[in-house]
Amino acid sequence: MDELMRAALEARENAYAPFSGFRVSAAVEDENGRVFTGCNVENATYGLTVCAERVAIWKGVSEGARRFRRLVVAAGPKLATPCGACRQILWEFGGDMEVTLVNPAGESMTMRMGELLPRPFDASNLD
Ligand code: THU
Repeated sequence: MDELMRAALEARENAYAPFSGFRVSAAVEDENGRVFTGCNVENATYGLTVCAERVAIWKGVSEGARRFRRLVVAAGPKLATPCGACRQILWEFGGDMEVTLVNPAGESMTMRMGELLPRPFDASNLD
């Protein structure tokens, strides 16, 4: 269990998930080693809910971060991968970064974004 995994698990305490009861959190590390965390923030409309991964990315980008090298997603008891919408956002700012899934029992699995989002759409498609 490393620092980024611990940061992600700690952020899960703040998950606002009264509708689904599914608590998720994320921690991202930027290219300079800065860490930003996020949790899911649900809404009574359901549709306005924001995932933990996007909250973490929004926090980082709004603080000046632009490139992330690592992401940890914390959920449980089963490990959870980022949703499709988040994968696109994660690719925008992290490309083929390392992704680790962790649960409160300390089980984890590590992969790369390219496995989760093969043949992504990004700025290179606009050339
Ligand atoms: N959720 C996330 O925060 N991240 C994911 O990658 C999957 C889903 C949240 C959204 C919602 O609050 C709850 O989990 C159930 O979908």
